[in-house]
Amino acid sequence: MINNEVNILDKTFVPFIKADVIAQKVQETAAAINADYAGKQPLLIAILNGSFMFAADLFRHLQTDATITFVKLASYKGTTSTGNVVTAIGLDESLEGRHIIVVEDIIDTGKTLSTFLPQLLAQHPASVEIATFLTKPDALKYDVKAKYTAFEIENKFVLGYGLDYDGHGRNLPDLYVLKG
Ligand code: IMP
Ligand code: MG
Repeated sequence: MINNEVNILDKTFVPFIKADVIAQKVQETAAAINADYAGKQPLLIAILNGSFMFAADLFRHLQTDATITFVKLASYKGTTSTGNVVTAIGLDESLEGRHIIVVEDIIDTGKTLSTFLPQLLAQHPASVEIATFLTKPDALKYDVKAKYTAFEIENKFVLGYGLDYDGHGRNLPDLYVLKG
């Protein structure tokens, strides 16, 4: 390891956002949700795999009577979106009348959520909002808007804190960005 760079498969990544800065922002995001959902019982739907770390940290800071469930959707291969969203594990509970918060690791083109949200709305939830760890405004191609965003970042490939490059790098506590 030179200058805190990390090599993952064939690529080199450099430090981007430190774990303590992430932790502080995630707490602030949870505080906003606590204020908005006081007295309600929100159901978080975390999108696997990438969001598991953000979802866990966000969830532990919620002070409402919240519940959480998981779906597995994927559209990425390597460092680019394939444009095809595949559901590998689906929802197994009723959303009718529930206050839903979809938890994502990152909104890139918005394709994943633009495919998934109509499936949720078809079940007549009371409300649906999005909480995302990251968003890349310059990459957005679909009409998807998160109510809660921890960090807006430029259009570069990142990994760590749950985000991966071909499955690797998720365990890094800090966020890294592709070098160059
Ligand atoms: P979208 O459907 O284009 O919005 O892509 C969303 C998904 O692509 C995210 O949930 C991630 O799994 C993946 N993704 C997008 N950008 C990155 C990145 O910079 N690093 C790692 N995964 C990413
Ligand atoms: Mg993902």
